[in-house]
Amino acid sequence: MSTDNYSVFDSSEVCEVLAKLLADSYFLYLKTHNYHWNVKGENFFSLHNLFEVQYNEMFQALDVIAERIRMIGYDVPGSFQEFRQLSTIEEEKLPHNPNMMVKRLKDDHYSMITSLKQYLANIAHTDDEGTKNLLVDRLVAHEKAHWMLQSSFNE
Ligand SMILES: [Fe+2]
Repeated sequence: MSTDNYSVFDSSEVCEVLAKLLADSYFLYLKTHNYHWNVKGENFFSLHNLFEVQYNEMFQALDVIAERIRMIGYDVPGSFQEFRQLSTIEEEKLPHNPNMMVKRLKDDHYSMITSLKQYLANIAHTDDEGTKNLLVDRLVAHEKAHWMLQSSFNE
C-alpha cells in the first residue's frame, strides 16, 4: 500500500461509536455551558468557573471526535436533530438549585464513563488503535470531571 493514499481504518462500527460519543459530548457540553450561565447562589463564583473549565474541555474534544469520524471515512453528524437521535444525555429544564446542577452533571459524567467503557469493548476486536486511544483519553477526562463534581457536591 502506498503511503500517499493511507487512510485510517474504514469501519462502520467505529464510526457508530464515535457518532454516539460526539452527540453525548455535545449535549453534555451544552448543559454545562447552560449551567455556567444560569448558576446562582453563594457558590456562584466557584461553580461558574468549574463549569467553564469543563465545558471548554468538552468543546475542544468535540472537534477531535468529529475529525476522527472524517478520518475513518464518514460524514459527521452535526445537527441537533441528528444529535438528539444519537444521544442518551437528557436535556435540561431550568431552574435548578446549584447542588442539583452539580448532581446532574456528576451523573451525566458517570454515564459517559459507562458508555465509554462499553464503546471500548465494542471496538476491542478492531485494530483501530487511534480511536481506542481517543476513547481512553475521553474516559480519563470524564473521570476527572466526575471527581471534581463529586468533590463539590454537598450531601
Ligand atoms: Fe462565561
